[in-house]
Amino acid sequence: MKTSLNWIPVLAAGLGAAWLVGCASTPQESGRIRTEPFGSADGQAVTLYTLRNSKGAEARICNYGGIVVSLKVPDKNGTIGDVVLGYDKLEDYVKVTPYFGCLVGRYGNRIARGQFTLNGVTCTLATNNYPNALHGGAKGFDKRVWQAKAYDSPAGPQLVLRYVSKDGEEGYPGTLFVKAAYTLTEDNGLRLDYAATTDKDTVLNLTHHSYFNLAGKGDILGHEVMLPAGRFTPVDATLIPTGELKPVAGTPFDFTRPTAIGARINQEDEQLKFGGGYDHNWVFTKRIGDLTLLARVTEPTTGRVLEVWSTEPGLQFYTGNFLDGTITGKGGWVYQHRNAFCLEPQHFPDSPNQPNFPSVVLKPGQTYRNTIIYRFAVK
Ligand code: BGC
Repeated sequence: MKTSLNWIPVLAAGLGAAWLVGCASTPQESGRIRTEPFGSADGQAVTLYTLRNSKGAEARICNYGGIVVSLKVPDKNGTIGDVVLGYDKLEDYVKVTPYFGCLVGRYGNRIARGQFTLNGVTCTLATNNYPNALHGGAKGFDKRVWQAKAYDSPAGPQLVLRYVSKDGEEGYPGTLFVKAAYTLTEDNGLRLDYAATTDKDTVLNLTHHSYFNLAGKGDILGHEVMLPAGRFTPVDATLIPTGELKPVAGTPFDFTRPTAIGARINQEDEQLKFGGGYDHNWVFTKRIGDLTLLARVTEPTTGRVLEVWSTEPGLQFYTGNFLDGTITGKGGWVYQHRNAFCLEPQHFPDSPNQPNFPSVVLKPGQTYRNTIIYRFAVK
């Protein structure tokens, strides 16, 4: 076993059988996981975990918000580079963040006017993206300190995060037990497996919010995107779906063939105007729960390719339209308009208010599961 002063072996202390059993890891020591203090939030110590595979890929993740602080993968020349936006320090994430790299919950994306009715009871949420609720409210899962344990699993170094969300937290009913397991796989995938249970009927829509730039600099307009989806959910001016599942054919939303992000983003189009660019949910024809390809993105200058796989039926493709040069991130990079994109596998926005969208209701006795894989290759 390779160890050094920096690469502290992590002793996994058992499988945490208390709830959500199912972690396939073998507790053992590992040279593939390093831990270091990363400051504190809410009076609790936060740890930064560095996961490495044998291909030189590296993911640094902290247990505040489950934030992926950096993600380093090779380009076509074998040069390793960071492909996500974020900060060097925890205190910056705590101060202000447009959801850099985090776990998102309880409800990823928007709920109209911060209200929904479940079993005849109206639930009221913070309208933190006025007039709507966004990404779990004022203090969503992205701003919580999660319990963490690292494992050297057969699939790769793994960080298992757990959080218990109290009944009524941010207006959502039911005590929710959430587990989020990140695994850095040998094929340069960052895999996220969610599982959750509740003690009362509730709604749930978890996702992940890394801001990617496969070149590690500049804007993302030259990245080529392929989304194998025939429809998307058009929105109103506040980015709430109208309920329609609109064919992408003949619109700037058709990414069924690889197309540069910048090719049509500034076209005269009401939907692009509402989003300030792409900020929409694509609809996949599939059996929910089947792990399928939702996106492939290629960056021509570095040859980096990102594939997104998920069990979810929708994908929010957001082109960093709200980045405006007011945030300075890692290494002094001032994040300008469209310097990154997000690919967020999810159920559709505002589903609790949209009877024709797939249900997001979770009941006691059921286990919510959602797998998201960001896999990197070169071309
Ligand atoms: C949303 C955007 C939002 C961004 C950051 C994305 O998931 O679709 O509208 O600005 O998250 O909050």
